Amino acid sequence: MATPWRTAWITGASSGIGRELALQLARRGVNVAASARSAEKLDALTRTQTGILPFPLDVTDAGAVSSVHERIVAETGAIDLAVLNAGVWHPMNAADYDAGLALRSMAVNYGGIVNALGPLIPAMLTKGGGHIALVASVAGYRGLPKAAAYAPSKAAVIALAEVLRLELASRGITVSLVNPGFVETPMTSVNTFEMPFIIKAEDAAARIIRGLERGAFEIAFPWQLVMMLKVLRLLPNRLYLPIARRMVER
Ligand SMILES: NC(=O)c1ccc[n+]([C@@H]2O[C@H](COP(=O)([O-])OP(=O)(O)OC[C@H]3O[C@@H](n4cnc5c(N)ncnc54)[C@H](OP(=O)(O)O)[C@@H]3O)[C@@H](O)[C@H]2O)c1
Repeated sequence: MATPWRTAWITGASSGIGRELALQLARRGVNVAASARSAEKLDALTRTQTGILPFPLDVTDAGAVSSVHERIVAETGAIDLAVLNAGVWHPMNAADYDAGLALRSMAVNYGGIVNALGPLIPAMLTKGGGHIALVASVAGYRGLPKAAAYAPSKAAVIALAEVLRLELASRGITVSLVNPGFVETPMTSVNTFEMPFIIKAEDAAARIIRGLERGAFEIAFPWQLVMMLKVLRLLPNRLYLPIARRMVER
């Protein structure tokens, strides 16, 4: 099926969900600019599928992100779709709080998106349209065990996506928020706890593309986990905190 985009920029495209998104979009005829730090993995990806070009970068380096954005526009044309997906997960309990790692998580998961929005928004405003997808997580809905570094960075992305959606819609820019539950990727391979309703990266990418094609605001999956966490989000703190504490104790 034809997609609404000619050119897409995907960050975090060297593995997991981003890699799958790059492959599936390229197979559908989209020119994909693939970014991540590992140049070798991006090169391997471009050899796997035509239609993908590598643009290595570290999303925490604002200058590098800006110049890569400029190069992509010069080499592939204006960006129609940007999926800002690069992220890190450092499981962290409050008792083992590591300020450096917490700030590093924020710098990649939130700051990486901010650095890309810097050049993207003005370019899309000038072009008169575009689609930006911010990848957060269902872990951003509420404070969850082991997520002292991760959850705040994803909560920030969720809040940012809401502001951008409501303010950019009238300027022709569609903003989507992607909130995955557990997906089988190198990121979750470190987890020793149970991951309910986990899905494959191929499946996650297909769901994201379907949601983006619909122009949906929130693309969250799988529905079972999303539903559970959304109910928890609605609970007042006096009910939520004891329930979450029991999850920690288990
Ligand atoms: N897997 C899940 O269960 C799950 C659930 C909810 C949300 N998510 C979110 O989905 C996104 C993708 O995760 P994933 O599961 O596919 O993880 P993954 O396989 O570990 O992929 C993470 C990607 O981000 C890139 N990255 C990390 N730090 C970077 C940096 N400083 N600059 C540029 N790229 C960087 C990595 O490439 P390099 O190392 O080569 O830079 C890699 O391509 C993340 O934002 C994650 O938080 C995942």
